[in-house]
Formats: sequence, C-alpha cells, structure tokens
Amino acid sequence: MNARAFIFDAYGTLFDVHAAIAHYRKRIGPDADRISEVWRTKQLEYTWTLTAMNRYENFERLTERALDFALARHEKNDPALRADLLAAYRELNAYPDAKDALHALKQSGKTTGILSNGSPEMLQAAVDAAGIGGVLDHVLSVDVLRIYKPRQEVYALVTKALSVQPEEIVFVSSNRWDVAGAAGFGFKPVWVNRSKMPDEYADLAPVATLDSLAALSALEL
Ligand code: LAC
Repeated sequence: MNARAFIFDAYGTLFDVHAAIAHYRKRIGPDADRISEVWRTKQLEYTWTLTAMNRYENFERLTERALDFALARHEKNDPALRADLLAAYRELNAYPDAKDALHALKQSGKTTGILSNGSPEMLQAAVDAAGIGGVLDHVLSVDVLRIYKPRQEVYALVTKALSVQPEEIVFVSSNRWDVAGAAGFGFKPVWVNRSKMPDEYADLAPVATLDSLAALSALEL
C-alpha cells in the first residue's frame, strides 16, 4: 500500500448507529427498526439543510432533534426512553471489525484518523467507549468549521492536519454520499457497503467497495 494515511468516517463506519435502538429493542417494540432508520435519516437531513442555509448547530443537538422527530412520528412520548437512547448513542458499539482493521493499519505503519460530523465531545466519548483511542492518530471534527459533510472544506481539514496531498489519503466510509464527497476532493475513497446498497453517484466512484472493514489492510492502494 502506498497511501500514507487511512481516515475513517465515524457514525455508520466505525460505530454502529443502530446499536442504541438495538439495545432497547424489547422496550421499544415492533417499531424499533423504523425509529432507528428515521432517527438516522433525519439526523443527516438536518446537517444538509442547515449547511445549505449557512446555519449550524452541533451534531449532538441535531441527534437529539432527530430522535425527537422519530419518537413523535411513532407516537412514543417517553422521556425516560429518550434519555436512555441518547446516553446509548454516546457510547455506541464499534463494529466488531473496526478495532482489528485499525490495529492492522497501525502495524503496517499507516497514519490513522477519524473525520466526522460528530462534535468533539461525542467523538471522544465514542472513541473511549470503543477503546480505539490508542490506534487513532487524529480525531477531526467538522465543529471547527461549523459546516457539515460533504462540503469540501471539511475534507480539507485532513490535508491541513496531516500536511499531505488528497491523493495520499484513503478515506473510508459506509455512507455513499460521503464517499462521493471524498472522491470530489481527490481522496482515494473506499466504500464499506455493509448493507449491500445499490450504487449511486456514478461519477464520484470509490476506488474499492468492501463488505466490511476486515479486507481493508489487504487492499493495494
Ligand atoms: C459522520 C457521519 C456522516 O460520522 O456519520 O461524519
């Protein structure tokens, strides 16, 4: 591998965004998966709409608002459940393959990091809970810019922090729109298509598509 650094999206890529709801699946009942989908979809929608309007609120606040919408949409007025879900979101499970992939990259001498919409406090809590702080060289948040992905200035945080050219960076995301943003900036994007989604953004393609992070360190990039 010639790439100097491997930079990861956080939510959905290293951390399982559906783990919070999964933890309380029995308590929530049959709407659990739908609530989780709406929660994630609204969270992302708010990042795009605010950025398009030159407005900003941090990702923690948008995560709360998105959950409020998802619970209201499914008529679950339950403040205790809301509090428990938000606490669980702060300590999301890392995917089982995330830790091994980061260790393998560090062993082969690569620089590693996160570039995320998450606020610095959220990211620190998630990294600590997953126990991956020791295999991450950088944890970069959009919060310093107060704009969200896929604005191209966000990806430039990486090249500035690492003093490298975009083509020296492998950017790993499970979000196809984030892969498109990274491709537009000139990174080598890898799409982790865990849920076997159809492809999109054909003119902003990944250099590789994987089922999981397990095969990442074997890629020739
Ligand atoms: C992030 C969002 C996209 O971590 O999940 O940046």
